[in-house]
Amino acid sequence: MIDQRLLEAYLSALPIADIRFFETIGSTNDEAMRWVSQGAGDNSLVIAETQTQGRGRFNRRWITVPGASLAFSLILSPSESEKQHLPMFSPLGALAVCQGLEQVLNLQPEIKWPNDVLLNRRKVAGVLAEATWLGDQLQAVVVGIGININRAAVPPDDQVLFPAISIEHAAQESIDRYAVLAKVLQALLSWRNSLLSPGFHTSWENRLAFKNEWVKLSEDSEPDSPVTIGQVIGLDASGGLLLRLETGETTVVSIGDVHLRPGKPEK
Ligand code: BTN
Repeated sequence: MIDQRLLEAYLSALPIADIRFFETIGSTNDEAMRWVSQGAGDNSLVIAETQTQGRGRFNRRWITVPGASLAFSLILSPSESEKQHLPMFSPLGALAVCQGLEQVLNLQPEIKWPNDVLLNRRKVAGVLAEATWLGDQLQAVVVGIGININRAAVPPDDQVLFPAISIEHAAQESIDRYAVLAKVLQALLSWRNSLLSPGFHTSWENRLAFKNEWVKLSEDSEPDSPVTIGQVIGLDASGGLLLRLETGETTVVSIGDVHLRPGKPEK
């Protein structure tokens, strides 16, 4: 059960406009979008103990286990300049999760481009950033984040496309999930002010998983979807993934339209 008073105390130093708590909700992202249509302000937060329709990227299911997970969505009203860089809100969420984990625990999370957070090369958190529109007017960006806190949150390997882990498992200690939430939100709100800065780019790139390793990128999870195989070099200026192909050429994969997994070229 969410302890609302305790959670509010943890978040009291942060400029969160308003919070909606739910024991059970379909999806915190959907609820956040509903709230946007009712006039939610910048930095409003939706948090739920469990979700019955939790969603991931590419419409995958996201499981939220009561007492063992964190599931929340932050509503952001982008400025005119932020509107030009909407794809950066997903990596913003991932970088914020990394920094939150680094600050609360002595962990070294990595970002599986563009925005999954890994511990011990297993997925510990996912980010789903969605824009809401009224006609052609952008109303808000909802940054939804799901974090596996305890072992009970982690689906078995045969039920997920990418193996998962919890913070508790990686840290080998019990986790204060409200402390994690507070640090993640603090990092997110702080990096939001410098989304296009070299510092943001470097901090993201420094945490890139699989650097110099071979990876496979595919457009979707269908077995026959086209695959690009390359060695991870880093990020280009706009956050695209730089890959060295087998031919030695360098290519850039644009943000948001592919799946990445480790994999060597077939000889
Ligand atoms: C992914 O890994 O593909 C992204 C997962 C995002 C899950 C979070 S949990 C809170 C918010 N509500 C949702 O329905 N999804 C996001």
